[in-house]
Amino acid sequence: MVDAIDDTTVAVLLEPVQGEQGVVVPPDDYLPAVRAACTARGVLLVADEVQSGLGRTGSTLACERWGVRPDLVTLGKALGGGIVPVSAVVGRSDVLGVLTAGTHGSTFGGNPMACAVGLAVVELLSTGDLQRRALDLGAVLRGRLDALVAEGLLARVRTIGLWAGLDVDASRAGGPATGRELAERLLARGVLAKDTHGATIRLAPPLTITDQDLHLALDRLADALR
Ligand SMILES: Cc1ncc(COP(=O)(O)O)c(C=O)c1O
Repeated sequence: MVDAIDDTTVAVLLEPVQGEQGVVVPPDDYLPAVRAACTARGVLLVADEVQSGLGRTGSTLACERWGVRPDLVTLGKALGGGIVPVSAVVGRSDVLGVLTAGTHGSTFGGNPMACAVGLAVVELLSTGDLQRRALDLGAVLRGRLDALVAEGLLARVRTIGLWAGLDVDASRAGGPATGRELAERLLARGVLAKDTHGATIRLAPPLTITDQDLHLALDRLADALR
């Protein structure tokens, strides 16, 4: 990555944890090294936290887990409380200040109801309760997924906070052959989860889920794998 930065580079844009790839968590030295390289070369670090942000990983932004402060951050999805479409770019005022009123427009941008929901989400996160909940329930999730790996029902799992990528073992007789097949088996059991690609699915329960509902979903996951 560092070698890819040259005189024509204005920014490095990355997800601190890759969601679509199946919740791929980088080694601890990765993001600090990217931050240092961007600072040294005078290019912006833009973190796409559309999936990883707003409490999902146990901190408000996933970058905080590695003590990294990006220049810009993109947010979406949870910003609308899972209901209304709203997204945002936040960051350094000297960078954002390049855009002045009228230089950027969007038909539905600035929708008052969506903005009110976004502000309510930011307010909800201000106590830190949901971030702690993501860590606490994330530990429960991790423990139960590790048990499924130990039982041979899953090939491997990756988690951070209340977020998990699961790889099915396509060679196991009777088990789901693909992430898609596992997602369909879960759907038949009333649990919505999305395959990312190939053998992988991702679990991203609401941070407000109850302990009982999380256990119920994981019971059904175990059933779907058998
Ligand atoms: C990591 C990530 N970044 C950006 C986007 C795009 O966000 P939006 O759909 O709000 O344009 C998505 C959407 O799925 C995403 O998962």
